[in-house]
Amino acid sequence: MPFTVSREGFLLDGRPLRVLSGALHYFRVLPEQWPHRLRMLRAMGLNTVETYVPWNLHEPHPGAYDFTGGADLDGFLRAARDAGLYAVVRPSPYICAEWENGGLPWWLLADREVRALRCGDPAFLAHVDRWYDRLVPLLAAHQVTRGGNVLMVQVENEYGSYGTDTGYLEHLAAGLRARGVDVPLFTSDGPEDFFLAGGTLPGTLATVNFGSGAGEAFAGLRRLRPDDPPMCAEFWCGWFDHWGAAHTVREPDDAAAALAGVLESGASVNIYMAHGGTNFSTWAGANTADHTTGAGYLPTVTSYDYDAPVDERGAVTEKFLAFRAVLERYADGPPPEPEPPAPLLPPGRVRLVDSVALLGALDALAAPPVAAATPPSFEELGVAHGLVLYETRVPGPRGPYTLSVRGLADRAHVFVDGRPAGVLERDAAESLDGIAAPPGGARLGLLVESMGRVNYGVGLGDRKGVREVLHAQQLLHGWTARAVELGHGTPERVPWDAPRDPAAGRGGAPGPVGPVFHRGFLEVAEPADAYLALPGMRKGYVWVNGFCLGRYWQERGPQRTLYLPWPLLRAGRNEIAVLELDGAADAAVEVRRAPDLGGA
Ligand code: GLA
Repeated sequence: MPFTVSREGFLLDGRPLRVLSGALHYFRVLPEQWPHRLRMLRAMGLNTVETYVPWNLHEPHPGAYDFTGGADLDGFLRAARDAGLYAVVRPSPYICAEWENGGLPWWLLADREVRALRCGDPAFLAHVDRWYDRLVPLLAAHQVTRGGNVLMVQVENEYGSYGTDTGYLEHLAAGLRARGVDVPLFTSDGPEDFFLAGGTLPGTLATVNFGSGAGEAFAGLRRLRPDDPPMCAEFWCGWFDHWGAAHTVREPDDAAAALAGVLESGASVNIYMAHGGTNFSTWAGANTADHTTGAGYLPTVTSYDYDAPVDERGAVTEKFLAFRAVLERYADGPPPEPEPPAPLLPPGRVRLVDSVALLGALDALAAPPVAAATPPSFEELGVAHGLVLYETRVPGPRGPYTLSVRGLADRAHVFVDGRPAGVLERDAAESLDGIAAPPGGARLGLLVESMGRVNYGVGLGDRKGVREVLHAQQLLHGWTARAVELGHGTPERVPWDAPRDPAAGRGGAPGPVGPVFHRGFLEVAEPADAYLALPGMRKGYVWVNGFCLGRYWQERGPQRTLYLPWPLLRAGRNEIAVLELDGAADAAVEVRRAPDLGGA
């Protein structure tokens, strides 16, 4: 079936089709839950689902591809068709999306040949072309022209927010075409003139992204593109959160009125997000406060609930009902009734009974030490995310002087001769006063934690680790680096049975130095949904049966519970592992029936 673009709107097989789309990222929802979530989109009155494709999920290492499990794009597109939905696909290389590095693989930052991202840099394009060789044929098989459900495919993502390399956009568009994409291509950008001037391509449908002010946005688009039908490719009905900032919500009535404004102007729409899901494991990205300098690092929280109409666990919200009432007026027939989400576990508490200090278990957990004159980055060490212990000797006698860092990404526990000396944090606390060394010198350790790589703006290409460490004005040299990668499966590497220092943390003795892995067991009768809270913990990561739910940061918030989806549980005993970085006051996890994303 051909899907075509005309001045008046879209035509499917010659008949008008208003695209009523909602964003749902398969990589933020477990595959067992895709069918339910997709049916919820239908039940809201949508006829289409939109998803990005995160390159970094599918090519975790150069040339090693993954399209299985949660990365089964093929399966997701089939599930969408089974749910009665067309699909719009935004296939990378760059996706933004509050996703680690905007979807670009971390290893691009380790390739010295790649001098720049998101432009016609030949080494960057060579990686993109190889990736497209794998991805695009898979995608092309799902097009409506081949009996599938994919209506249209985006070129790059809001390129006008970043650069002006039209040749790069042309390369991508030609690459999609050459590998079999024959449905319409489109670009999407903010409605301002410089966004549209930088991000659009002659001869390719241009769309606009906004959260309100449809009339003005479409007028801006029309001035530039009088022959393109109006489409809002991202109607922002909610928003995401950063650690340490307020939780963002958008009133349902306000959002529904803005949605009605889009549709009354005759436009097609993609609601961003219809269902947000979760930034599991280490996939949450980050922003920067200043879009021209890239300064002011702002890591994104684990939940991607987004204040979307279908909430993080797939339940109906007030916004869902308000949107349904608007969409009903434009849908082909009455939408199906929404289905209830999975049941919830009874509330409870899991004591974390085992503990292993990370610094005492490096032989089991860390890669072999790497020696270098200056601290190697995570990328140079071949690590996507986690912790790297950087160690050197500070010659003495000297000091006390200030210890400072340059290029810290993103947070470091500092140890002097094995004793905690303080915590450094990117852009917020980059020096420690009063660091001295005795005549024999001191052993200095920085245990650096990475958080998400920046996914938007000039901060893109965010290397992790620490670039330079200074004592007074002097650069410290002669480092060893030991990397502990964190992600799915990490607790399997923890030596839970290793003998412990009997004095550690008992009878008033000081607790173990540095981060600690804790473990406990949750008994359930039947798998069901839950929210996990860690009121006695401070900052770290949680795993359920080896699957990493993501980061928590109790002291910062706003998010204070983690969504635990039912497919991760099994009837009987389930392992809950926690890596606490800053020291637990009470090593326990609470099972709750309601989320705490930080209140309004
Ligand atoms: C932009 C991007 C999206 C997402 C939203 C904010 O529009 O295109 O990927 O980052 O902002 O949620």
